[in-house]
Amino acid sequence: MGRFYITTPIYYVNDAPHVGHAYSTVNADAMARWHRLVGDDVKFLTGTDEHGQKVADAAEKNGLTPQEWTDRTSARFREAWDALGISYDDFIRTTEPRHYESVQKFLTAIYENGYIYKDVYKGLYCVSCEDYYTVEASIDGNCPIHGRPLTEMEEENWFFRLSAFEDKLLEYYDRHPGFVTPETKRNEAYSFIKGGLRDISITRSSISWGVPVPWDEKHVFYVWYDALINYMTAIGYGRADNEVEDWWPFSHHLIGKEIIRFHCVWWPAMCMAAGLEPPSHVQVHGWLLVGGQKLSKTMAQEGGVKLTDIAPVVLTNEFGVDPIRYYLLREAVLGNDGEFSHEGITARYNTDLANNLGNLVARVATVVGSKCSGLGPTPRADSSLRVEAETAIRDTAAAWDRFAPQSALEATWGLIGATNSYLERLAPWKMEPGPEVDAVMGDALEAIRLVTILATPAMPGVCDEIWHRIGLSGSPIDHSFQQIAIWGLYPGGSVEKGDPLFPRIKSES
Ligand code: ME8
Ligand code: MG
Repeated sequence: MGRFYITTPIYYVNDAPHVGHAYSTVNADAMARWHRLVGDDVKFLTGTDEHGQKVADAAEKNGLTPQEWTDRTSARFREAWDALGISYDDFIRTTEPRHYESVQKFLTAIYENGYIYKDVYKGLYCVSCEDYYTVEASIDGNCPIHGRPLTEMEEENWFFRLSAFEDKLLEYYDRHPGFVTPETKRNEAYSFIKGGLRDISITRSSISWGVPVPWDEKHVFYVWYDALINYMTAIGYGRADNEVEDWWPFSHHLIGKEIIRFHCVWWPAMCMAAGLEPPSHVQVHGWLLVGGQKLSKTMAQEGGVKLTDIAPVVLTNEFGVDPIRYYLLREAVLGNDGEFSHEGITARYNTDLANNLGNLVARVATVVGSKCSGLGPTPRADSSLRVEAETAIRDTAAAWDRFAPQSALEATWGLIGATNSYLERLAPWKMEPGPEVDAVMGDALEAIRLVTILATPAMPGVCDEIWHRIGLSGSPIDHSFQQIAIWGLYPGGSVEKGDPLFPRIKSES
């Protein structure tokens, strides 16, 4: 059995969570569930990024102290993740004492290794990005991402000697071809490094909402600098509960494409500067777009997109938890952008869930009820469905292993489609009760059992429900994948019809 340490970005608490955050978190959750299913020792980390100017501004606007504001907003992220069935093992808040301790230890190590020095910083700053821009990168003095005016900043700051890591980073990329996936994003990071790296300012004296610099109490660390270290805090870096050696070699960061530079350039360099290996893998994903535009908390404040209508909790109330999870995993290839819409969810729901999966389970239960006295028969070893099932098992597993939930679900739905066709071809509902119907229904039930195992990382609730309806006890996750994802193990059982799993949604148009 292996180990698997998966992280999401830690989200800013300037505002409530939206479906873009749910996208990353659900994808990471499915990955974590897949690895638990195959028997790996898993640590799944998410959390909130609570320092910086943007959060301090939001608190002030709402008449609260930064701590009060972050307590309140961080709780809303947890509520959203509970509503979506997110199985995180640890939820980190960057205002926790454990984080201060690890950050101070980590940055002191970099300081002592000679990679931090003092200088004057002058530049253009975007508070929404919490990032500096050069004049060339700005668009008429505005932020290229948020389109808002950049602020002129001048401060005496501590700097990180990022420029010292150009060659070391390129060498690391060359030696670790899978470090950043997909390859297009890897190439983007690589070219950025090749283009030359400038040292970066890592502290602020103009604000106090941050982790204090241990060797200079007039300064706090720049928010990105403390935020990235959360991945180390959660495994006990520099503390008594240090588990860095156990988990770091198995680390996977799932991130949105707008934070590639931080995770694929700064962060590996910071790790090297502290005397550690970079993370083992960064998986980049694209953006969910609404009407072609990236959803963001900052946009919402400007009245562009109504994010409250598509808050994760609103969506799960409207469509159910598993359908939303399914949609977020199935709609776009991880790495590409995808368009988010209610019509899109409705279409996926009606086609893949109601017509394919829901209908399969319902018709099998009906025929078993009327022709087999409600007792599910066992499958045949030489069923023609077996080949389809074995293909689906192989392809689904391979896709989950390579962080491709969309292909994993496509492969699983291939088996659902094959089983529906099998039933249509043989039409057991037209047969007289007897061995012939039993044989067909045993095969179909076995295919359903396998589907619930394959789809459980995506839709844990519904898969448990189907598992029970076909007469099995416990849950598909009670055994390891290798032991149960094998054709022929369905032992028979009493099959229950139940209410429709996915009642069709009438589309509005
Ligand atoms: O960047 N589509 O936090 P953040 C897909 N605190 N994913 C989206 C998305 C969209 N439209 N909008 C947001 C930060 N995301 C920092 C991270 S990590 C050490 C610090 C997701 O609140 C996506 O994962 O702006 C993106 O990278 C993340 O939310 C940014 O969240
Ligand atoms: Mg952002």
